[in-house]
Amino acid sequence: MKNMIHYCSQTSTFSLHNCKVSYIMEVIEETYLIHRYWGKRLSSYHFSNRPILKKRTFAAAPDNEKLEVSPEFLPFELPVAHQGDFRNPAVQIEHKNSERITRFHYQRYEIINKAIDLDDLPHARDTEELAQTLIIYLFDPIAQIELALSYTIFENSPVIVRSTKVNNQSEKSIKLTKLFSASVDTSYDDQLVTTFYGTHQKEYQLNRSAIQHGLFKIGSSRGASGPQYPPYLALSKEATENKGDVHAMTLIYSGNHEVLLERDQYNHLRLQIGLNSETFSWQLNPGDSFQSPQALLSHSDQGFNGCSQSFHHFFADHLIPPIWKNQVRPLLINSWEMTYYDVNETLIKQLIDAADELGFETVVLDDGWYSQRNSSKTSLGDWVIDHEKFPKGIQPLVAYAKKKNIGFGLWFEPEMVSPETTLIQQHPEWVMRSSNYQPLLGRSQYVLDLTNREVQRFIIDTVSQAIDTLDVSYIKWDMNRHMTDPFSQLHSFEASEYSHRYILGLYRIMNELTTTYPNVLFENCSSGGGRLDPGMLYYFPQTWISDNTDGKDRQQIQYGASYLFPISAMTGHVSDVPNHQTNRTISFETRAALASSTNMGYEMNITDLSPKKKEIIRDHLQEYKEERKLITQGNFYRLLSPFSSNYCAWMFTDKGMEQAIVYVFRNQYEVYELSLLIKIPFLKEDCLYKDSVTEQVYSGSELANCGLALENSKDDFIVHKIKLVQIEKEL
Ligand code: DGJ
Repeated sequence: MKNMIHYCSQTSTFSLHNCKVSYIMEVIEETYLIHRYWGKRLSSYHFSNRPILKKRTFAAAPDNEKLEVSPEFLPFELPVAHQGDFRNPAVQIEHKNSERITRFHYQRYEIINKAIDLDDLPHARDTEELAQTLIIYLFDPIAQIELALSYTIFENSPVIVRSTKVNNQSEKSIKLTKLFSASVDTSYDDQLVTTFYGTHQKEYQLNRSAIQHGLFKIGSSRGASGPQYPPYLALSKEATENKGDVHAMTLIYSGNHEVLLERDQYNHLRLQIGLNSETFSWQLNPGDSFQSPQALLSHSDQGFNGCSQSFHHFFADHLIPPIWKNQVRPLLINSWEMTYYDVNETLIKQLIDAADELGFETVVLDDGWYSQRNSSKTSLGDWVIDHEKFPKGIQPLVAYAKKKNIGFGLWFEPEMVSPETTLIQQHPEWVMRSSNYQPLLGRSQYVLDLTNREVQRFIIDTVSQAIDTLDVSYIKWDMNRHMTDPFSQLHSFEASEYSHRYILGLYRIMNELTTTYPNVLFENCSSGGGRLDPGMLYYFPQTWISDNTDGKDRQQIQYGASYLFPISAMTGHVSDVPNHQTNRTISFETRAALASSTNMGYEMNITDLSPKKKEIIRDHLQEYKEERKLITQGNFYRLLSPFSSNYCAWMFTDKGMEQAIVYVFRNQYEVYELSLLIKIPFLKEDCLYKDSVTEQVYSGSELANCGLALENSKDDFIVHKIKLVQIEKEL
């Protein structure tokens, strides 16, 4: 076993190194665990950046003769509240008498030769790749509480996995009122902060700004990670997409989270990520423990593309269910925008026939197939096939599709219940609600109480039964509202534990279903990308990232989502025009190119197409089938940003950079542009590449430095596709 983690007893220093990154901590005064470095791999470290400490007014310390060693300005690994550090803490504990003072000291460490398995939370998976975990224990001898800080490093990844566990070793109950997964103290150096913001149909928008003094905070208290502010934060100074240092963090979690950045009085920066402390507390009885979700810390010296690729490879290697890692996903046709709720046997049969004729591999029956679900107002929870719409049931359709070698998928929204259903009549106590107030409706539906084991069992049994009896190969798991009344009618725990317990319930359900049915492809959806986060990805390998399929808006959504998520995690559909969300009419080529840049599907009426349109679609599907391995399993590079230009461009390559597909979207036509010029960096500079359409040959260095000139045709929203194949090394 190659050691990636070292402890030096002379200097009391912990260091984690692999070929890409280093992460260094020091214990000072035999008490405090101090952060020293996180970034590009160092050959060795000799405290060059250790600050020269000085006494400061207002600073307090345990030893009055050593006020220069005050927690007020020490860079902590895990800052604890009320320990002399007035910045935002990462841990806060309340004793029985409501006192919140604790004093944690460094105690010991251990090193484990693998990644750690968190029983009830999604986590970085141990694989063949060499991994080591360092656990550092801090202890409060008065309160008898232990904090265990875990750091996992893999041999080839620049991602460090952090989490925190609290062990109550005392005889008394305590309340955990805050526990972050990671906190990093560093210096302010004119960096910029990048986060996401968004809403339904406009997910994963990029937000980059200067860092002011004070606290910058994003998060969710909606019971889901939400499209508003997904858990991600990056720090960069002069980084571009291609160059420069980027430090980024995310959280393997799908519920209420918090991401904080504090610039303090001494120009120190503190980055934090974890459970949202405003909606969280946890009772810890004697002997109890609480484990935080894992945070992922990624560093790249190759700009935002480098940082994204680190996450992409990490998610593919250590997060998604391993069975899906190298499997291309089925090319599907989804019924939603063709029929909405108006599905029936005849239409779905026609859809299967058309799918067969055109070359689709799976037909997905979206919403509307169960107990008189004719609008969003009814039927959720009564998962019984609507026999008026499907007189013979759905199974014969699945069998019909199977005969044609076509898979069948079914839509579910298992976490919800509509008001006038048999389910709610039979189990009013299963609704998430407080005892005093009528719960709010969202999309005419209530949320089920997933903390209740009976509800968990009901959901597992319902979905299992559909898989078993209908033999479906794909489930679209939707979730279309957020949680307004987070309380369980079981009353068996405090309300502030609710949101986290809901997510644990959800993870339990997804875990059982995906381990029982490893070959069923589960697609995550929450009105699109409303709960697209690394936690969901651990169970469901792909997500319908937005309900918005418009040829312009999708550029930003896909570009933004790719900051964190690999292409294999995203699905995109070619839909009809005028677009159902924006009413815009954009060419088929542009819409097809966008969907082809994900796990592709279609979502339109394909049953009454003209022969010409059929031919176009058949060709498109064929082309995508030939390219999808490269697109979804190779490397992805962003080239031009739709957030700051009239263009959007990206490139897919195989790992050896022998083949590349580049898409260049140009939105508004500008008369002054004689032709378009796109620079294509990253290819092997000393090799020759042939454009497989024009048959022209270019060197990699020429494509990177001179760029490639493209026709500027007169329409708005055009796209160019360039396919490059390496032919030989340049002499
Ligand atoms: C929201 C999803 O995002 C849509 O794709 C569709 O499945 C509807 N729900 C169905 O109600």
